[in-house]
Amino acid sequence: MEKSLQGKVALVTGGSRGIGKGIAAAFAAAGAQVMISSRSAESCAATAKELGAGVHFEAGNIGRVEDAERVVGATLERLGRLDILVNNAATNPYAGPTIDVDLPRWEKTLQVNLTAPLLWTQLAWRRWMKEHGGAIVNISSVGGLTTNTLLGVYDITKSALLHLTRQLAAELGPKVRVNAIAPGLIKTDFARVLWEEGRGDVVARTYPLKRLGEVVDVAEAALYLADDRRSGWVTGNTIVIDGGGLVGFERIG
Ligand SMILES: NC(=O)c1ccc[n+]([C@@H]2O[C@H](COP(=O)([O-])OP(=O)(O)OC[C@H]3O[C@@H](n4cnc5c(N)ncnc54)[C@H](OP(=O)(O)O)[C@@H]3O)[C@@H](O)[C@H]2O)c1
Repeated sequence: MEKSLQGKVALVTGGSRGIGKGIAAAFAAAGAQVMISSRSAESCAATAKELGAGVHFEAGNIGRVEDAERVVGATLERLGRLDILVNNAATNPYAGPTIDVDLPRWEKTLQVNLTAPLLWTQLAWRRWMKEHGGAIVNISSVGGLTTNTLLGVYDITKSALLHLTRQLAAELGPKVRVNAIAPGLIKTDFARVLWEEGRGDVVARTYPLKRLGEVVDVAEAALYLADDRRSGWVTGNTIVIDGGGLVGFERIG
């Protein structure tokens, strides 16, 4: 049986671990050639080796224009095309009331979580997708759909990423579909402080589905949104993958 992404090339930022690694693994299992990228060449190399044939790497910081150009260029030169871009890498350097944030950390969060997805999408569009078509998947957060006492700055960037998704979907159709995923709490390094030492059990109890997310929960949604044969009439949309947290009765924080 033909694999659903056979013949496709995908680029996944932040693909060395966590959700990005899970998406890379799912795409490779579906037959795609996958370029993963993160700041650490060593971790990318280790992950590419672990995931095996079909997974390649080129290190780069998503916030640097020259790195973005190099990684997108390497994808096209080495793999010959660029059908799917997953804007997954993000940062969260500040926790506290938004009113008190210092401007350097505000700007850093905006640069990595919002400007970078626009930059990488511009490059993918101009260098491949405008002519050949493609799919963009932006990894946002349920934080982009609600408020939080300590994560306001991060959440504002994730909310803006959801609107960027809608805006670009309107502009880039019919050639390119642009969608987003808004995960709840997923057990990765990024969110470790929120789930380690039993804190995750407390959060899980507030979710109707009574568990935290796993990277595979997000990877399956990314696979759906990346695959034209499954989601070919879906664009400008957000899939919330949160165990029902947004509709639960209780809230933490
Ligand atoms: N985990 C959750 O509960 C959760 C919930 C909602 C949304 N999300 C979103 O899901 C996405 C992935 O998060 P995760 O939990 O999988 O995080 P993670 O496990 O910490 O992985 C982050 C990945 O991004 C890379 N990265 C970080 N900063 C980068 C930069 N400036 N340039 C290039 N690569 C960078 C990291 O590698 P290097 O360190 O080598 O660069 C790593 O590969 C993020 O957009 C996050 O906001 C996560």
